[in-house]
Amino acid sequence: MKSVKNLPLTDKCHHWTNLGEVPWDLQKYWQQRYTIFPYYDNGIYMTEEAWYGVTPEPVAIHLVYDFVGFISPEKRTVIDMFAGVGGNAISLAMAMEEDECTPRFDKVIAIELDPSTLACAQNNAAIYGVADKIIWVLGDSFNFLKLLAKSPDQLEENLRVDSATTTIFASPPWGGPGYRTDEIFDLSTMEPYNLAKLHEAYKTMDHALYLPRTSDLRQIAKLVPDGVKIDVVQYCVEGASKAMVAYIPATVQEPAGKADDQSMS
Ligand SMILES: C[S@@+](CC[C@H](N)C(=O)[O-])C[C@H]1O[C@@H](n2cnc3c(N)ncnc32)[C@H](O)[C@@H]1O
Repeated sequence: MKSVKNLPLTDKCHHWTNLGEVPWDLQKYWQQRYTIFPYYDNGIYMTEEAWYGVTPEPVAIHLVYDFVGFISPEKRTVIDMFAGVGGNAISLAMAMEEDECTPRFDKVIAIELDPSTLACAQNNAAIYGVADKIIWVLGDSFNFLKLLAKSPDQLEENLRVDSATTTIFASPPWGGPGYRTDEIFDLSTMEPYNLAKLHEAYKTMDHALYLPRTSDLRQIAKLVPDGVKIDVVQYCVEGASKAMVAYIPATVQEPAGKADDQSMS
């Protein structure tokens, strides 16, 4: 797996400038374009699907401050597992700036499966002046983690990060029955990746999960070791919650021998 730069925008990438160009089902999202990306007019590009899942900039910025506060200071690398059009990756990269008041990461890796979406993300990050600070990967982020754990030699050198100093940000698609209508969203039905799949992939690293605002807290609580307190934050824009983020610490793996000893005592 390799990093990629400057992917070309495709005919799936759009910068709509008037309502007449916008498909009717996306018009309400386009009306919120300046909340989502205040620099929209500078040439922000989106795919049609991206309008449903992009993180609005005020949420993305606030989230980075919380994220850095909740994780330990030695976590200097962050991987955005579902980069989309860059809503979170851009804010994470802006936290790399040398600035006394700003929390910092040394490395931001952003992974996205869809080439048109990644092209939009790179274009959008360039508008914010951070495109070159982000290491972009076109591919499956679960495969990336598998290679990192089992065959790091198959990753380009700057992608071979140390899990001990790396943290994960994940804003997966929220598909599946009911996330818009259910009073409490059952995270086991989230598609294509449910909570169990995400947790299995991320559990050895501290991770932040960006989830529907009505997500079932009892399911999140079950991921946390006994006695450990975690933070779950609702992020609101103009009085309405946009998402819930669960900040989940790595599960400490007991060495096999030690775990066996305990189970025998
Ligand atoms: C909810 S969107 C992310 C939005 C992003 N946070 C933003 O603000 O633009 C989820 C994205 O994950 C991508 N995706 C889905 N499965 C993936 C995978 N296995 N690896 C990497 N990206 C994936 C989708 O193409 C989609 O762009």
